[in-house]
Amino acid sequence: MQAGATEVAGTTYFRIALATLAPGSVVPCELWLRHGDGEPVLYRARHLDFTAEHRARLTASGVQTLFVPFSDSASWTAYLEARLHERVSDHGVPAAQRVEVLLEASRPILREILADPRRPGAAARVGNVADAICELMRGPETVAAAVRLMEHDYYTYTHSLHVAIFAVALARACGIDAPDVLASIGRGALMHDCGKVKLPAHVINKPGRLDREEWELMMTHPTHGRDILREAGWNDPVASEVCHCHHERLDGTGYPRGLVGRAIPEAARIAAICDAYDAMTSDRSYKRAMRGAVALACLRRDERTGYDQAILEQFIPLLATRS
Ligand SMILES: [Fe+2]
Ligand SMILES: [Fe+2]
Repeated sequence: MQAGATEVAGTTYFRIALATLAPGSVVPCELWLRHGDGEPVLYRARHLDFTAEHRARLTASGVQTLFVPFSDSASWTAYLEARLHERVSDHGVPAAQRVEVLLEASRPILREILADPRRPGAAARVGNVADAICELMRGPETVAAAVRLMEHDYYTYTHSLHVAIFAVALARACGIDAPDVLASIGRGALMHDCGKVKLPAHVINKPGRLDREEWELMMTHPTHGRDILREAGWNDPVASEVCHCHHERLDGTGYPRGLVGRAIPEAARIAAICDAYDAMTSDRSYKRAMRGAVALACLRRDERTGYDQAILEQFIPLLATRS
C-alpha cells in the first residue's frame, strides 16, 4: 500500500490535502471523509462541483484531509496536474498547505516520467512541475515548509523532487533571478538522474557498495541523462548541464568528465550540493539518514575538493529557516 493509504472493508483510499481541491471545479472522483479511526464516509460523489462554500465549511469543521478511493487515482492525478500552478499560487491557502499540494501532485507525475523519461509530453509535464516549484520557492516561509515536509524515504522520484526544490531555492539565494533560468534549473534537477533508467536494475537497487564494474556503469548515468533530453528534443541547455555535470567535483575527481572548478556550470555546482545533501539525509535500505547538520559538515569537509563553498554558504541559512 502506498504511503498515506488506508484500507477499510476491502477498499483502499489515499489521503489528499483539502488545499488540493480547487474551488469552482468539478472533481472527477469520489471524496470521502474520515473522523478519527472511524470508517470513511462518502462526502461527494464523482463529477460534482466543489465550491468555496464547501471548502469554508470543511475548514470550519477542522477538516484538512479527505480520502479518495485508489480506483480513482488516475482521474485524481490528472485533475491535480491540470491545476497545479493554480493551487500552489492560491494565497488564500497557508504556505505549508501549498507546499503539500506541490509534493502530492508532483510525486505521481515524476514516478511516471522517471520510469520512462522518453515518453511523449514529458518535457511539458516536467516544465509544469518546475514552474510550480519556482512559484513556491520565493520566500523563506515556503522554503522552510518544504524542508519540514520532505519525507526521508528515498525513491528516485522523491529525491529528484527534493533536489529540484532545494536547487531553485538555492539558485535564488545565489542571486539568480531570471525566471527562465530558474525554471531550467528546476527542470534539470527534476531530471538529473533520469539516465539511471538505462542502467541494469541490480546496479540501481544494490544495497551497499558497488564493485568496480558496477561503479563504471553508474558513472555513465549523467551522460545517458543528457542524451535522453537531447533525443527527446528538450533543447534546454541549462537542464542538460545539470543532468550531465551534477557529479563533477571542483577538484576534478568527479565524473563523467573530471571537469575542474568553474569549468563546471554554476547550475550544476548548485545541483551537486542539493543532490548530495538529499542523498545523505534520506534513509536507504543499507544506511540510516544522516542528520542535516552532519550532512552539512560532510559537505564542508570537502572544502578544498568537491563542493563550491560559496554556494554552500548560501544553502545553510535555507535549511535553518523556520516559519
Ligand atoms: Fe546522479
Ligand atoms: Fe541524485
